[in-house]
Amino acid sequence: MKHACIISFDFIRQGEPEGSLAIASLLAYLKQDERYGQEFQCGHISFNLLEHAQLTVLHVVQNILKMYHLPALDFIALSCYVWSEFLINPLIRSLREHGFSGAIILGGYQISYADSSLLQAEYPDCQIFIKGYAEESLRQALLSEPQEWPLVLSQEPDFSCLTSPYLSGELAIADNQSRVRWETKRGCPYRCSFCAHRDLQRNRVYRHERDKVFDELHLFQKKRVQKINVLDPVFNMGPEYLSLMEKMLECSLGAQVSLQTRFENIQGANGERFLELCSNLPVFLEFGVQTIQEAELAVIQRRNQRSHIEELFQRLNALGIAYEISLIYGLPNQTFASFKESVDFLQAHACQRIKAFPLMLLKGTELHAQRNLWKCQEKIVGDYHIPVVVSANSFDEQEWLRMRALAESLEHCERYE
Ligand SMILES: C[S@@+](CC[C@H](N)C(=O)[O-])C[C@H]1O[C@@H](n2cnc3c(N)ncnc32)[C@H](O)[C@@H]1O
Ligand code: SF4
Repeated sequence: MKHACIISFDFIRQGEPEGSLAIASLLAYLKQDERYGQEFQCGHISFNLLEHAQLTVLHVVQNILKMYHLPALDFIALSCYVWSEFLINPLIRSLREHGFSGAIILGGYQISYADSSLLQAEYPDCQIFIKGYAEESLRQALLSEPQEWPLVLSQEPDFSCLTSPYLSGELAIADNQSRVRWETKRGCPYRCSFCAHRDLQRNRVYRHERDKVFDELHLFQKKRVQKINVLDPVFNMGPEYLSLMEKMLECSLGAQVSLQTRFENIQGANGERFLELCSNLPVFLEFGVQTIQEAELAVIQRRNQRSHIEELFQRLNALGIAYEISLIYGLPNQTFASFKESVDFLQAHACQRIKAFPLMLLKGTELHAQRNLWKCQEKIVGDYHIPVVVSANSFDEQEWLRMRALAESLEHCERYE
């Protein structure tokens, strides 16, 4: 039998089930294969970055060694994201030094969106790369033989066969669980140039089976879950979001539900029904505006109609719907003054809660490809080793520091707590 272990680097907040939803989805999928437990099996170790802002290779390896005898493992799969990238190659070297001689499998955004021809050079001691959603590819990886390596797998999972991590018990929910993450669909069809949430490979949206989604909702209700954080990059899109909200209403959902939403999609009869449902449900809406400046919007390939946003602020405030707005600072063509105008615009419209994120150049995004064109310089300035843009064509690092101070003042302002 082949023995595998997934090592993941996650952000698990207090009150959430122990373990990551993404990894639980992989494990639930593997375990439904009839060969599981006979021909292959897979364990999991999660490192919660919220508990280890400065994670080191030594700490990771010491913890793996507590649970595994490395020469006995056939596969080690590592999750590669912008926050774990710095660990990957040194960790592989250390695993080898400690006797691991099997195949390294790499997956996650950093692999999915990297140029395939560069993967082997970037990660010279990796045998199997997984691009895209990993359920089916990981299963194939664990059934592969050394003569097939190196291997790049990008199997599209059949969403009708994805086992629910919650309904299968892979991710256990306690009674009165404070928070859970939930997914009703994956991917986004829009093309914002900074964003890796959309499916950069196929630009498709994959919907989970409606019955499975409803069953998960009933489970959350039965367990009296207090907060449901919906991960869909854009919830108010596609044919099913309204019926899902109707279902929440019908079962008198007790949990608060946070939804990532787009102003642009609140239009016409569906938009009206959406607002009506929001006003009758304990929802919290998260809108990305990013900037209100035309020159910056053009770079990120978004169009925000100010009049539409203004009208919606009024409606949301009048209906008592809770929401927050996110902005990005450090964008090409941005200056401190233009960023402040975006903030002032939101505050002038009594926007309840504003968050501003520093721009990250994520692999595979158009902005990442255009970083030289916009003279973007990056620096690691905070925790988690994530590089952010600190100067570009329109601002230097001093000006960026002023933007950061303004962004931080929003988070700490009592009005927004
Ligand atoms: C998960 S995204 C989803 C946003 C939503 N779908 C929308 O269209 O606005 C949530 C927020 O993360 C921030 N974000 C996403 N990618 C980012 C990046 N590369 N750099 C900085 N902030 C980013 C943006 O402010 C975005 O609104
Ligand atoms: S920012 Fe939102 S709308 Fe734009 S591509 Fe990302 S998830 Fe989609």
